[in-house]
Amino acid sequence: MSEKAQIGVTGLAVMGRNLARNFARHGHTVAVHNRSYARTKELVEQFGDEGTFLPSESAQDFVASLERPRRVVIMVKAGPATDAVIDEFAPLLEPGDMLIDAGNAHFADTRRREAALKERGLHFVGTGVSGGEEGALHGPSIMPGGSRESYESLGPLLEDISAKVDGEPCCVHVGPDGAGHFVKMVHNGIEYADMQLIAEAYDLLRQAGGHSPAEIAEIFKGWNEGRLGSYLIEITAEVLKQADPETGQPFVDVVLDRAEQKGTGRWTVQSALDLGVPISGIAEAVFARALSGDPVAREAAAGLPGPSATAGAGGTGLQADIEQALFASKIVAYAQGFQQIQAASKEYGWDIDPGAMAKIWRDGCIIRAKFLDYIKQAYDKSPQLPTLLVDDYFLEAVSGAQQGWRRVVALAAEQGVPAPGFASALAYYDGLRAKRLPAALIQGQRDFFGAHTYQRVDKPGAFHVLWATEDRNEVPA
Ligand code: 6PG
Repeated sequence: MSEKAQIGVTGLAVMGRNLARNFARHGHTVAVHNRSYARTKELVEQFGDEGTFLPSESAQDFVASLERPRRVVIMVKAGPATDAVIDEFAPLLEPGDMLIDAGNAHFADTRRREAALKERGLHFVGTGVSGGEEGALHGPSIMPGGSRESYESLGPLLEDISAKVDGEPCCVHVGPDGAGHFVKMVHNGIEYADMQLIAEAYDLLRQAGGHSPAEIAEIFKGWNEGRLGSYLIEITAEVLKQADPETGQPFVDVVLDRAEQKGTGRWTVQSALDLGVPISGIAEAVFARALSGDPVAREAAAGLPGPSATAGAGGTGLQADIEQALFASKIVAYAQGFQQIQAASKEYGWDIDPGAMAKIWRDGCIIRAKFLDYIKQAYDKSPQLPTLLVDDYFLEAVSGAQQGWRRVVALAAEQGVPAPGFASALAYYDGLRAKRLPAALIQGQRDFFGAHTYQRVDKPGAFHVLWATEDRNEVPA
């Protein structure tokens, strides 16, 4: 009998190819397939010596080359292409087989596909994969959803190729149906926030601190040694020290300042609106990209007056303050993202363990960072933690950082440097810790114009004021 593959990958653009190579390098026999056979051939020609690949030209041969239950990883562009591949493969599969969507699919699509395939006895496993091309090859962070049963068969292979921290895989069964893709989506939302906050820190160091990009690269390198240590800080230093070979200018000065997005950050915010979870820091990051990408409005507004010129506030005090603003705002963004995961877990009955999510983000993914260890510890200690901000470590970190954070937000406002991420994170923090919020006044307004009723602080029930009468008496609603 000819050799069968433990896993197959269809869709061999760079992510799919690198995942296939990663499986092969770990000693698994990998069936490979692509819409155009040239790519499949190229993979085997170039990397065939890395392990055992079983190339197939047709979907039928590909399926036939897999051991049962079959595990088919789909790595195509999210959206209609995924449905097309499912439609092509599902009829060829048998009950118990697994289709694993490793792209950045919307979790609602994953839920729909999972339910439809379940009826046919197939497992559909929406799987988040983070770490870009390099991660896919050398060890990504992997967030599989789908049934527990599918994880029993698939999990060991995924754990094998994932990044490891102290020998522990950055891969865990997140929860049923769309849970894996949901968590990957929130990962990306946090990624957007992290990047925006870092960009604001850079902007303030440059505009208010008067530092050059090369100097700021050194500052980031220093920060990377401390509590901010993370992949995104590390690569920021690399980008900032880059000089444009053509003009000799700092690279960051020759790049058009319009940030693009494929949409996962936007999905995160859309879902948060539905769930009613205030992820304001993540939303600011998405909106900041949108603002940067609106040249017409920016051009029209370019002449709007700013503050009267103030001298740069440079010095190490400013650097320390910005480090504090960055750390505190980052904590807020993660607190918001984890709260969203907890809310979705409840809404969809996923039973996600937030500590396990922090654990698998410690390496392999784009937001990998030292401080995820503390997030893991916080949720391990108390899985129902209402917000990360009240965990001992984070409470102390934010208390220590808050004066610098406030000075930075004030300085940004004074000098007219946009810092929406820092400012909104601080407003969130102050909102959350407020003993009384002006929401009471909003309730009064709602009751006034729409008889929407309100509750009282001193007794149960709903009430309404007869605003239109002279006496304006309160009545039970
Ligand atoms: C990852 C990344 C990856 C990608 C996203 C975000 O975890 O490996 O998040 O999924 O970079 O597509 O990209 P955009 O900024 O284009 O939305």
